[in-house]
Amino acid sequence: MILDELVPDVRDRVKVLGPIEGEALIARLEQHHLDIVEPLEHLYGDGTDLAILARAVVDVVVDAALARPEALRLLDRRREIDHGWFQRSRMVGYVCYADRFAGDLPSVRERLDYLAELGVTYLHLMPLLKPRAGPSDGGYAVADYREVDPRLGTMDDLEQLAGDLHHRGMSMCIDLVLNHTAAEHPWAQAALAGDPTYRRFYRVFPDRTQPDAFERTLPEVFPDTSPGSFTHVEGLGWVWTTFESFQWDLDWTNPDVFAAMLDTVLFLANKGVDVLRLDAAPFLWKREGTDSQNQTEAHLIVQALRGLVTVAAPGLAFKVEAIVAPDQLVTYLGAHEGYRPEGHLAYNNQLMVMLWSSLASRDTRLAAAALRRLKSIPPGTAWMTYLRGHDDIGWAVSDEDAWSVGLDPASHRAFLSDFFSGSHPGSFARGEVFQHNPGTGDRRISGTAAALSGLDAARAAGDEEQVESALRRLLLMYSVVYSFGGIPLLYMGDELGLPNDPHWADDEEHRTDNRWMHRPPMDWDAAERRHDATSVEGRIFSGIRGMATTRARLLALRAGADTTVLDSGNTHVLAYARRHERGATFLGLANFSDDPVEVGADVLTEVFRRRPVERLGSPGVSLTGPGVRLPAWGWVWLSDH
Ligand code: GLC
Repeated sequence: MILDELVPDVRDRVKVLGPIEGEALIARLEQHHLDIVEPLEHLYGDGTDLAILARAVVDVVVDAALARPEALRLLDRRREIDHGWFQRSRMVGYVCYADRFAGDLPSVRERLDYLAELGVTYLHLMPLLKPRAGPSDGGYAVADYREVDPRLGTMDDLEQLAGDLHHRGMSMCIDLVLNHTAAEHPWAQAALAGDPTYRRFYRVFPDRTQPDAFERTLPEVFPDTSPGSFTHVEGLGWVWTTFESFQWDLDWTNPDVFAAMLDTVLFLANKGVDVLRLDAAPFLWKREGTDSQNQTEAHLIVQALRGLVTVAAPGLAFKVEAIVAPDQLVTYLGAHEGYRPEGHLAYNNQLMVMLWSSLASRDTRLAAAALRRLKSIPPGTAWMTYLRGHDDIGWAVSDEDAWSVGLDPASHRAFLSDFFSGSHPGSFARGEVFQHNPGTGDRRISGTAAALSGLDAARAAGDEEQVESALRRLLLMYSVVYSFGGIPLLYMGDELGLPNDPHWADDEEHRTDNRWMHRPPMDWDAAERRHDATSVEGRIFSGIRGMATTRARLLALRAGADTTVLDSGNTHVLAYARRHERGATFLGLANFSDDPVEVGADVLTEVFRRRPVERLGSPGVSLTGPGVRLPAWGWVWLSDH
């Protein structure tokens, strides 16, 4: 076998690490042999000498292992023993832009106490590598993967921040854009200058023949601002640009692209990054006649990267960003016909969509059907659960799920867009439509969690009762996010109920992208009010902090076990249970109705042998009857001990 032949050489090279570390690396290489070789063969076996490719990529891995700082090797050692480190129920994520949160990376270091107070143990900093000048799709058009955006700081600052986080038992996640580089990246510039090696890094066509053929089946990601998937570049031809015209898709059929990106991943791992968010992974492989998403090869690329990266940096985890149809989601965690190590983490986009759908319709039947049909995830992985992120919300409601509960899928999706953009009569939400696609009828939604939950409208109306309802809705939604299973993610500002940014369009570069309305700068004055129990901020902050504290004590909320969605006996109430292998049991109940409800005792007896105890819940929950009484938008976490 290809890698076996390399072992004597590798053993020689890693001698300097000492016998214990060196032999551990060899063991990992042997252990992950199949995980590496099978995908590489499938991807590149046809046109490439695999022995040469294997040597090249193993060289990259060994170089990285030799360069890996000792502090990180220590973390590797811990995580090799405790490989479920990211599954702990103490894990709570916070997502922010470094500049919008604190100004720059050194200032983020000054704000770690704030995060600790919230119970955060995992910090996802939005794109921070050097972007192109001018519009950069929020930093997703990277001009240099080895430099930090100078406005935010330097690589040294990033390393120091990682060190501080580790010291506090926190981990750090950053984005890595695999699908495309900025048109200004040196690879793209070399391609433009006529260098044939780098010309092969991108997908370039001399005329429209192939682009036209592909476009027959390609959906558009940004139909408003960047229609089509190809851009004509003077002196080069038609370049594949799935997203914006300045984001050039890399050609992953070229093994040099694979090797270059592997090197990039390991470079970042060695700076102290714990989790890499692999941006837009479903788009990595294109195939004519398809939508060029979720192709088998896109999975194989992630699998091969994971296998190789594990050899040098076993403590690094991949979070795959795949916001895809519900049936596809679990495949990014390696749940294929058999298990294939792929992402450690992936976004539970289905839960996110279903929470908003339940909130608008006051009905959890669709959520229950859809979440029940979501396949199990492999035991060594975890979902990221979230209410919203920096992106728009797209209505990933499968036709099958909608029909199964008697809903017409297209009209339900249209209802959700109307509701959350505030145009549906009686809607409390204040979002906006993002990228209306008249062809498909899709209208995605922008807006902060608070705005979509009704807080902006209630505050504008100065209506205290409405404010109260909006707070209840926001906390209801987060109560599910924090307990459904996986790592909950809190988007910056949600803990204070930050409204839509009224100034989002003032910045010339943001004007055409209303996702900026839900990426407001941190309001530290509002944060000052977090200890005032009568303020809006104080109530949300303490509610969310309480969820983190309680969650950390609940063994059943550890990831790696399935969540069961139960029949609550009430269309307004979502009921979900979790069980840890040691027997700890959990039941979450969430009432999406504007009125109080009674949940029958059946649900309790289905989960618990004895009467459960309330671990956390909204004010007004009562367990004095045979079942549970939940107030309007009330929720409760029950457990057996
Ligand atoms: C991901 C990001 C999104 C970005 C796109 C292109 O989906 O979340 O913000 O526009 O990738 O990089």
